[in-house]
Amino acid sequence: MMDLHNAVLDAILAAPTAQAESASLRDRLFQTRALSSELARPLSDEDQVVQANDDASPTKWHLAHTTWFFEAFLLKRFLAGYRVFDERFEYCFNSYYESVGSRQPRGKRGLLTRPSAEEVRAYRAHIDVALGRLFDQALSPEAAELVELGINHEQQHQELLLTDIKHVLSVNPIAPCNWIASRVIRSAASDARAFVRLASAARGAPSSPLSRAWTASAKTAVASSCCR
Ligand SMILES: [Fe+2]
Repeated sequence: MMDLHNAVLDAILAAPTAQAESASLRDRLFQTRALSSELARPLSDEDQVVQANDDASPTKWHLAHTTWFFEAFLLKRFLAGYRVFDERFEYCFNSYYESVGSRQPRGKRGLLTRPSAEEVRAYRAHIDVALGRLFDQALSPEAAELVELGINHEQQHQELLLTDIKHVLSVNPIAPCNWIASRVIRSAASDARAFVRLASAARGAPSSPLSRAWTASAKTAVASSCCR
């Protein structure tokens, strides 16, 4: 069986070189957001609900939790007039932030059949629109730092998402992993090419944007205390 995680990482690291340094914070934010959605796109809604064990999380939870992070720590504070998508989601998708409040027990994230995967996709779209509005105004240094933090956090969850869904699919008797892996790799490669085009429109020295982003993610400790 193809090693899904390593195969996706290989596809990303093999992406053409480009001008990563010139990519703006906004570009990197939406590139990261798009990659999460692309990684989940080949999965069924049923795939995205399963939690294989207490140390893993469902794909849907990763997608919603990274989105909630931007809502809770950035949009509520820095976007005037921001409307929370659904107040109940804070309980569902908080991880370990005691200051924010209580949350769904980690080992029971797989019981969250609601909100649905479709609702989580709508949640992500709502937050992306709001993030775009945030960038339409002058971004304070503190807000910019939180955007960077949120990017690193979501990148770390991308790695966890792949690790967790790889396990789920590996124990399925009809072996869906090969088929899905091929689709994920195509998505990742397409995403990498899109980012290269984006970065090429700006200035800077050639480099490998996604590999840099993922390496930075691995080195970033910010999310290490909340993701598992
Ligand atoms: Fe997290």
